[in-house]
Amino acid sequence: MSATEPATDPATEQYDPYEAFGDLAGDVRDPWPELAAARRRAPVQKNSIFALEGVEVPPDLPDEYTVYSYDLVSQVLRDNHTFSSEVYAAMMGPVMGHTILEMDEPEHHTYRGLVQQAFSRKAMERWEEGAVGPIVDECIDAFIERGNAELVRELTLPFPVNVIASMLGLPRADLPQFHRWAIELISVSFDWERGTRASAQLRDYFAGVLAERRFHPANDLMSILAVSELDGQHLTDEEIFAFLRLLLPAGAETTYRSSSNLLFGLLTHPDQLDALRADRALMPKAIEEGLRWEPPLTTIVRTATRDTVVDGVDVPAGAVVITNMGSANHDEKYWERSEEFDIHREQRQHLAFAFGPHMCLGMHLARMETRVVLERIFDRLPNLRLDPAADAPQITGMTFRAPPALPVLFG
Ligand code: HEM
Repeated sequence: MSATEPATDPATEQYDPYEAFGDLAGDVRDPWPELAAARRRAPVQKNSIFALEGVEVPPDLPDEYTVYSYDLVSQVLRDNHTFSSEVYAAMMGPVMGHTILEMDEPEHHTYRGLVQQAFSRKAMERWEEGAVGPIVDECIDAFIERGNAELVRELTLPFPVNVIASMLGLPRADLPQFHRWAIELISVSFDWERGTRASAQLRDYFAGVLAERRFHPANDLMSILAVSELDGQHLTDEEIFAFLRLLLPAGAETTYRSSSNLLFGLLTHPDQLDALRADRALMPKAIEEGLRWEPPLTTIVRTATRDTVVDGVDVPAGAVVITNMGSANHDEKYWERSEEFDIHREQRQHLAFAFGPHMCLGMHLARMETRVVLERIFDRLPNLRLDPAADAPQITGMTFRAPPALPVLFG
């Protein structure tokens, strides 16, 4: 099925959100040699998605530049006065609402202050015991007796959405419906109608839960957002709904992809899988290497607020600037053999979580979720290995990357 067709079977009108979601990635397998060549040609280049695809460039489009090197990607992301995030308002606003992602200063700083307490390292301890551990266990319970599994469909895709539902304190009975809306919302880039419908349904659903929490605050994220206050400012209901919707693509989709990519790296490098199993002190290095080697999201976008110069290249006000974090993570200036997956390599900060003021708010949560998944797999699924009888898995996608499936055997 192509990425532009909704995953609906016209005969039955059945919609398989998993299939639809899996299709989103596209089938680009190995973008890395091309990105390395682009880095060597010039670390910042004027180009256009249309031109690259050999299509005539429509008139009146803003100029487009892509930044490929580690140094320049961090430079652009650090300077959010010259490089604005407002571009997301047009890209995502109609579906998500006014989210933190599209805010510039000073609004961004105030808003981030209001929501970030829920994502501190300290807060993670509670979510680990109360949400992530039990949810991962439940996913594994469902297949452990079989001795085989498809880890994407049965573990890495469902668990992060369930973690968000649990953090929000949603009733368990609502989970299947919430899961479906979540996946439909994320699929908006190829099924606009279904995505916008899910967005409205989520808003109505969240409104009911929020109203209830205002009366009966609980120990969950919804209640924290309902009462959060900074210098006398509170979040409005619409701001809360926009933030909650954003958590689905920002928090669930990325984590599903990053944990799948790390598992793929380990399963295709069994010596490193064994080393990590034998010495769990390697866990933080393995998690960071997975994120460096195959970041789930390779590019993010900014617009120039004024005429500026990036590494000697004139970038006019209004130009779109694409920062290629995937390319930056493979920059040979900082990583030898950068195309290789190597959990033993010396660590330095990668850019998978971006950099600067908009650096990922959920990074402690994402790391903790990935660690818990690996720990539970090591504790419960001995001798985990790829199923030799199944098609060899492959990470695919240009902007969003993950393996569509990870068929494994264990025991
Ligand atoms: C491995 C998993 C993850 C990756 C690779 C990732 C990556 C990113 C990136 C690249 C950005 C910057 C976007 C931009 O400025 O254009 C971002 C922002 C954000 N992320 Fe994550 N993310 C992950 C997990 C999470 C999780 C688990 C959550 C929460 C549940 C989350 C919530 C957010 C939020 C709210 C922002 C907006 C921050 C701001 O604009 O100040 N992310 N993330």
